[in-house]
Amino acid sequence: MDCCIIGTGYVGLVTGACLADMGHSVTCVDRDAAKVAALVRGEVPIYEAELEAVVRRNLDSGGLLFTGDIRSAVAGAEFVFITVDTPSDAEGNADLTHVDEVAREIAAALDGYKVIINKSTVPVGTTKRVERIIEESMRAHHEFDVVSNPEFLREGTAVFDFSNPARIIIGSDSQKAAMRMTALYRGLDAPLLITDPASAEMIKYASNAFLATKVSYINAIADLCEAVGADVREVSLGMGYDDRIGFEFLKAGPGFGGSCFPKDCRALLNIARENGYDFNLLQGVLVVNREQQERMVAKIERAAGGLQGTRIGALGLAFKANTDDVRESPAVAIVKMLLEKGAAVTVYDPEANDNAAEELAGAEFAPDAYAAVKDADVLVLLTEWDEFKWLDYGRVLSAMKSPVVVDTRNCLDPVVLRKLGFTYEGVGR
Ligand code: UDX
Repeated sequence: MDCCIIGTGYVGLVTGACLADMGHSVTCVDRDAAKVAALVRGEVPIYEAELEAVVRRNLDSGGLLFTGDIRSAVAGAEFVFITVDTPSDAEGNADLTHVDEVAREIAAALDGYKVIINKSTVPVGTTKRVERIIEESMRAHHEFDVVSNPEFLREGTAVFDFSNPARIIIGSDSQKAAMRMTALYRGLDAPLLITDPASAEMIKYASNAFLATKVSYINAIADLCEAVGADVREVSLGMGYDDRIGFEFLKAGPGFGGSCFPKDCRALLNIARENGYDFNLLQGVLVVNREQQERMVAKIERAAGGLQGTRIGALGLAFKANTDDVRESPAVAIVKMLLEKGAAVTVYDPEANDNAAEELAGAEFAPDAYAAVKDADVLVLLTEWDEFKWLDYGRVLSAMKSPVVVDTRNCLDPVVLRKLGFTYEGVGR
C-alpha cells in the first residue's frame, strides 16, 4: 500500500522505515533539504538501534523514498501520516503550528480519497481540527478521513516496538478508514482497538501520564525507604509480583525525562484545567519528579561533604540508556544544579556528549568514563548505560581522588564496590 510520511523526526522516520519493511511503498517528506539529502544516502541523524539498517535495506529495495516535495508525495499515497513535532509552548500546551501547516499542505495536494493519520501526540480534539482545516483549505472537493493512530515507541527500542506493539489504537468515526488502517497493519500481531478519535487521543496521554505516575510513585517510596531503612529494589520486586501492579516502571532513579513524559504530563494537566478539572494527582507527579532531581543533588552534596570546589565525574547525560536524546534529561538538570552550586563537573556519555554540549557549557567533556572520573572527589552515575556497569572499578578507584560513588540509577553492585574500598550511595536503599 502507498504511504506518505510527513516529518522525518524520530516517530516519522521509524514509522516510515518500518512500514516499508512490512512491504508497503513509503515516501517520507521533510522540508529540511540537508536532512533529506543525508537520508537519501542512508545516513540516519539519530542514534536508534537497528534504524539505520532498516532504512538502508528499504532504500536499496526501492520501498523507501525521501523527498522535499510534499505535493507529489501526498498525491501518490493512499495513507498520509502526520508525524511532525508538537513541542510544549510557554504554558505547557502542545504547539500545533506544524500540524496545522501540514494539514493545509495536504489539503492543497489532495487528488482523491485518502486516509490522513495523525501520529503526533496532540490534544484531544485535534483529529477534528485537522479535518476542519483540510475541509476549509481544499481546492476541489475530495473525500478523505482523518484518523488518530497514536504511537507508543520507546526511544532505544523503537524499531522493535513498531513490529511488536502491545496494541494498535485506531481512532476514527469512519468505518471505511478504520478498515483500511486494519489492512495496513495486517501482519502485526497485536490487539487492535478501534475507537472514536477523542478516546484514541486520550489513550496516548492517559498511558504516558500513568507510566510517569508509576515512576514518581516509586521515587516517593524510595525516599521513604531511605528514611525507614528499607530497600526500594526489594519493595518494587515484592509489589511487581502482584499482576495488578506489574514489575515495569518501578525502578527508582533520578526521575523521568525525555521528549514525551514531561511534555505529555504538562499537556494533560492543561487539557484538564481547560475542562474545569483540577488534576492534582498529576500535578503531584511532576512535583515529585522535580524534587527527585533536587534530592539527587542533595545526596551528592552530602556524599561529597559540600559542593563548592568539589570535582565531580558524571557518567551519563542521556535521559535514559541507549539513546543520544538529552531532552528534559534529569542527568543534564542535575549536572546544571551541581555547576550552579560551585562544583567542577567533568561529564561523559557514550552517545550524548555533543547533544548536551551547548546546555552544559560550564562542564568539561571527557572522551571516556575513566577520563571523566580522573581526580574526582565523587563519581556520579546518571544514566544506566551498560558500559558503566562493566567498568574496571579498580582502575576507576586509582584514577579518583576520593573513592565515593553516587549511583542515581541503582545499577552498580554496592557489595563489589565497598569491597574495593568505595563509599557507595544508591537511591532508596
Ligand atoms: C515513552 C513511552 O514509554 C512510549 O510508549 C511513548 O510513546 C513515548 O514515551 P521514552 O520517552 O522513550 O518512551 O522512554 P521510557 O523508556 O518510557 O522512559 C521514560 C523515562 O522514565 C526515562 O527518563 C526513564 O529513565 C524513566 N523511568 C522509566 C524510570 O525512571 N524508571 C522506570 O522504572 C522506567
